[in-house]
Amino acid sequence: MGKLVICDHPLIQHKLTFIRDVRTNTKDFREHVDEVATLMAYEITRDIPLETITVQTPVTETESKVISGRMLGLIPILRAGLGMLEGVLKLLPAAKVGHVGLFRDPDTLQPVEYYIKLPTDVQERELIVIDPMLATGGSAIAAITSLKKRGCTQIKMMNLIAAPEGVAAVQEAHPDVDIYVAALDDHLNEHGYIVPGLGDAGDRLYGTK
Ligand code: PRP
Ligand code: URA
Repeated sequence: MGKLVICDHPLIQHKLTFIRDVRTNTKDFREHVDEVATLMAYEITRDIPLETITVQTPVTETESKVISGRMLGLIPILRAGLGMLEGVLKLLPAAKVGHVGLFRDPDTLQPVEYYIKLPTDVQERELIVIDPMLATGGSAIAAITSLKKRGCTQIKMMNLIAAPEGVAAVQEAHPDVDIYVAALDDHLNEHGYIVPGLGDAGDRLYGTK
């Protein structure tokens, strides 16, 4: 079973309150999402492997650590995942980016894939799938399934807010995937929205609706 990590750093929790607040305007919403994404990237990379190299300081030669192992790939789920992408890239500027376009059919709540474009060496990379919302889990499961079909094996999921139903669904469908969230909320309402949540992430990021 993949682990669920709640990134409960005070700065993340503080900013998440403004993201949830219905009075927060599009500009401030976008900025807070960007900042939380950067802070979450710090948490999600906590266990990436290091190796020791020798470096010459102005004073002496010493051994010091650098990141080793697999290169990273970031996979934002369009469109709301784009709102977190730049924030993650601030900490991981060398990561390559693949895009998966999915929307949730408002009636059936089933994900519909309309676009996918991935780095050519995606199979060799450790991937972080990025989406602010993990509601029923349908979109996350579809994106991860699509990546696995193309040979990807090392995948983590990063969400601002998750519902318990979505976490359980992803853990059942993809037990090898760890999930990092800023908050685990209470439940889904009858329209598939996370309660208390933040509303529609894409609409709030881009000022649509
Ligand atoms: C939202 C969100 C997730 C999905 C979560 O996207 O960004 O991708 O819903 O719901 P699920 O866990 O029940 O699948 P949406 O379909 O609204 O598309 P958008 O990002 O283009 O607005
Ligand atoms: N998608 C959103 O943007 N918000 C939710 O609460 C659920 C799915």
